[in-house]
Amino acid sequence: MNEPIVVDSVTALRSQVRDWRRAGLRVAMVPTMGALHDGHISLVRIALERAERCVVSIFVNPTQFAPAEDLDKYPRQLARDLDRLRDAGAHLAFTPGVGEMYPAGFATKISVGGPSRGLETDFRPNFFDGVATVVAKLFLQAAPDCAVFGEKDYQQLCVVRQLCRDLDLPVEIIGAPTVRDAHGLAMSSRNAYLGEAELDIARKFNVILRQTAASLTAKADEAGAMDAAANALVSAGFQKIDYVAARASVTLGPWQRHRDGRLLAAAWLGTTRLIDNVEIPAS
Ligand code: PAF
Repeated sequence: MNEPIVVDSVTALRSQVRDWRRAGLRVAMVPTMGALHDGHISLVRIALERAERCVVSIFVNPTQFAPAEDLDKYPRQLARDLDRLRDAGAHLAFTPGVGEMYPAGFATKISVGGPSRGLETDFRPNFFDGVATVVAKLFLQAAPDCAVFGEKDYQQLCVVRQLCRDLDLPVEIIGAPTVRDAHGLAMSSRNAYLGEAELDIARKFNVILRQTAASLTAKADEAGAMDAAANALVSAGFQKIDYVAARASVTLGPWQRHRDGRLLAAAWLGTTRLIDNVEIPAS
């Protein structure tokens, strides 16, 4: 496998992508914050199926972290990430510093409505403004034909689709299935914070969500099913449940039984906040 080209400036990124475009090559992007795991690598594989060249950005974006969140302790392991990208066949790693993305005097924020309302936003009010702003910048910098985002961050995927639609950003957004461990735990860079006992509890998250989605499809009452899910998560060992909610799968508006839906949840294990989601097939 070839080493990926590593660039940390927008100028170098643009110049390389321009060369590829001139050669008639299609370019896919996988935006990440690094600490790459099998979930990210699955996004790279999908990108390589959809385009001849794959750009992966690695940037821990400060604007999507609240002051009390884990920006400082967020895992950073660039050398290991580059090894994984080489093995996966990615062509370019874009690794800008904070000054490259947010130079002195930076004063713009993109705020997406629609699917960003509620759920994560109720608990992390500035999160999607930070995500939308950095994703818009990355798309304008790299000008990819398509970009791959994991369904693990399902609300983020919906917000990015809305962002591209609303701002006419000519980037096809591809949603990729969540990669899970053998016990169903969704891969996440934050799993690195969990000890063995917490991992055992975390592995029950998806089981409880799948049971709840099945009971909704089998016509359980929505409010009762949400209460039962929250209680089951607490009994499993989660200390605090931010939300468990059934939503329409595209708009994230209210869930309707005869349409495909999504069950989304966020819960805490000690100081680690986990999110997950599953499909609710229409009944
Ligand atoms: O999902 C992530 O890792 C981040 O939110 C993203 C999309 C790379 C933006 O910083």
